[in-house]
Amino acid sequence: MPTSAATPAAVPAAADGRPEEVVLRVEGLTLRYGSVTALNDVGFTVRAGETVALVGPNGAGKTSLFNCVSAFSRPTSGTLRFRDLDLTRSSRHAVPRAGIGRTFQNLSLFPGATVLENALVGRHSLMRSGMVANLAWWRGSRREDVAHREAVCEVLDLLGLLDLWDVEVGGLPYGTRKRVELARALAMEPTLLLMDEPVAGMNPAETAELTAIVKDLGRRRGLSVLVVEHDMAMVMEVADQITVLDFGQVIAQGTPAAIRDDQRVRDAYLGNSVERSTPAAPAAAETTGEA
Ligand SMILES: Nc1ncnc2c1ncn2[C@@H]1O[C@H](COP(=O)(O)OP(=O)(O)OP(=O)(O)O)[C@@H](O)[C@H]1O
Ligand SMILES: [Mg+2]
Repeated sequence: MPTSAATPAAVPAAADGRPEEVVLRVEGLTLRYGSVTALNDVGFTVRAGETVALVGPNGAGKTSLFNCVSAFSRPTSGTLRFRDLDLTRSSRHAVPRAGIGRTFQNLSLFPGATVLENALVGRHSLMRSGMVANLAWWRGSRREDVAHREAVCEVLDLLGLLDLWDVEVGGLPYGTRKRVELARALAMEPTLLLMDEPVAGMNPAETAELTAIVKDLGRRRGLSVLVVEHDMAMVMEVADQITVLDFGQVIAQGTPAAIRDDQRVRDAYLGNSVERSTPAAPAAAETTGEA
């Protein structure tokens, strides 16, 4: 499995009770597309082993933020650091190599390839042997190939996809294809996983299954996760912290309980959806504007 420990060791906590170690730091991030300001002075952190959810209405800037973190878009201004790496200056190829995996809002799989082949694409950034090496050092490459397949099979097993390893992805149900996309992202052994609307389009059973998987990745395996999702029941279940965006700006940050009770968030985004979809939570903590 890509994330090593089944039970992470206790991590030092900061004064706010969150883990001390910052994995992703976003400060003063602004992104403009011509006259459109997709992100305006956005700041928040993802700490080691935390699951942070990014929520907000359509067009709020969530995918734009993922594109900045993945170095698909260059921010207009601001700071974006993944551990010691300055993401505002990184190439998009450096991002997976540094340990950031991503699933996309619109699936980006090879429909004519099998589940195993699609997941193996995720290993690309970890592969030492290229085409030339394959020709010249085929024995070594074959050993490497076997190791990659074994690692991918572990991921497929975790996601309940192992029985489908040789099935073409194009014919699979939508929810299963979304899990294949997650398998590809996990196959690269990320330490930070970005998930853009992982349960969108899934039926309730598939949603429950994926919610349990995301909780397992964060709580038990210690992966840091940044998840964008409109399904607030899912968000409330998996998130340690929530950042709410509206028109490219952060309007609230805090624990799920605090966000649920924040009037500005209710007005801008939640309405009554949380009451309908989640059980009662303990008394709310303060929301904080601090990242
Ligand atoms: N490549 C682009 N060129 C111009 N404008 C863009 C581009 N990408 C996004 N935008 C604009 O930036 C804003 C933020 O879009 P973004 O896709 O980040 O929103 P989102 O929060 O992910 O929305 P959704 O929940 O619908 O996925 C929107 O006004 C969108 O139209
Ligand atoms: Mg989006």
